[in-house]
Amino acid sequence: MSSNIFSQYLQKENIFKNKNCLTASFVPGKIRHREQEIQQLSAVLAPVLKGYYPNNVFIYGTCGTGKTISARFVASQLMSISSENKQKIKIIYVNCKMKKIADTEYRIVAQLLKELGEHVPDTGLPTNVLYRKFFERVEKIGCTVIIMLDEIDTLIKKVGDEFLYNFTRINQEMKNSHITIVGITNDLTLRNNFDLRVKSSLSEEEILFKPYNATQLKDILMERVSQGFMPNTVDDTALNKCAALAAQEHGDARRALDLLRVAGEMAERMAVMVVTENHVDMAEQKIDIDRVTETIKAQPMQSQAVLYSIIKVAEKLKSQKTWTDKRIFTGDVFENYISICEKNGIKPLTQRRVSDLIGELDMLSIIAAKVISKGRGGRTREIILMITGNILERVTGFLIDRFEE
Ligand SMILES: Nc1ncnc2c1ncn2[C@@H]1O[C@H](COP(=O)(O)OP(=O)(O)OP(=O)(O)O)[C@@H](O)[C@H]1O
Ligand SMILES: [Mg+2]
Repeated sequence: MSSNIFSQYLQKENIFKNKNCLTASFVPGKIRHREQEIQQLSAVLAPVLKGYYPNNVFIYGTCGTGKTISARFVASQLMSISSENKQKIKIIYVNCKMKKIADTEYRIVAQLLKELGEHVPDTGLPTNVLYRKFFERVEKIGCTVIIMLDEIDTLIKKVGDEFLYNFTRINQEMKNSHITIVGITNDLTLRNNFDLRVKSSLSEEEILFKPYNATQLKDILMERVSQGFMPNTVDDTALNKCAALAAQEHGDARRALDLLRVAGEMAERMAVMVVTENHVDMAEQKIDIDRVTETIKAQPMQSQAVLYSIIKVAEKLKSQKTWTDKRIFTGDVFENYISICEKNGIKPLTQRRVSDLIGELDMLSIIAAKVISKGRGGRTREIILMITGNILERVTGFLIDRFEE
């Protein structure tokens, strides 16, 4: 008998056939239940094949509704048919969440230039010079350039919406070229915030990706099960559960796939050969815990200190009898925060800044803070911890490791 500690893993049967099929970067062979949306997008872009200029188009839809895979699929189809027919079309896809590519106006235009084969220095040129270079380049190539800006909301939040105006306005000046913008976003309110000038110059079409329902999600999952898992290793109850949970959470296919993958890992670790509903429950917990702890780990230290203070105040108040006495107020949190700072050699922020950090934790749904009046016209904020149970335990553990008591 081998004594190597890893030999047991070699002998164990595997429930995964190809785990890559269940990861976010995998491109599925089939895109189910998005026929209509794909058709809408191709109808908007199709005029380009006849030599007309396609309209700008915005794709809206909550997370995991298949916007990115559908848009990329349409792009690849269009590229392949246009190269067969030797048409001059260029499609540039940029994910605006990518740091160093789309976090400033300079970088995004530089990136687009790079995609067209022209390299510019990383910094230094005035942006209007960059734009000029870009348009000259497009005009020289003489083609329709379709710019797909995925997660465009992140770019707009960083640099404003002026660049959209710059791109569309220039079309009037170009003679043998055209730029079409395809914006993709999960921020359904984005359009309402556009500057009027941008709105009218875009004159865009809109395509809405609706959330998937549980039945559709199950279809999507079944497709992956056959590619990703060994035969008969995933129970139907597990699939139903993944689909149901993800359907509740705004019909998110990414969530459904994550649940299935992590449930598979749970089963594998427990050395059982069938993934069941129970593993999905465990997967849900694990994903939630990981998500919250990752968010908190990514916060600046001051923010972590404020959260630690909130948790400590909550613990202290636990022994109080009535719920009114258990309430957490900003004043107590601030006091406790100061003492955490002192013990840890951190320079404390002003109460006002701490108040801002409390607001940020509220935005992350880690806490909920509401303004209440406290008699005699005084006002304070009451804080409610929104994380509980295992998640709270894990977060507290992390904060205890980070700060001196
Ligand atoms: N109809 C579908 N068929 C197969 N897989 C799908 C389908 N829709 C989504 N997926 C898968 O779900 C995941 C999320 O899809 P996608 O990235 O396209 O969502 P999205 O709408 O762009 O989300 P976000 O707004 O978060 O960027 C991907 O792994 C994708 O492969
Ligand atoms: Mg996407």
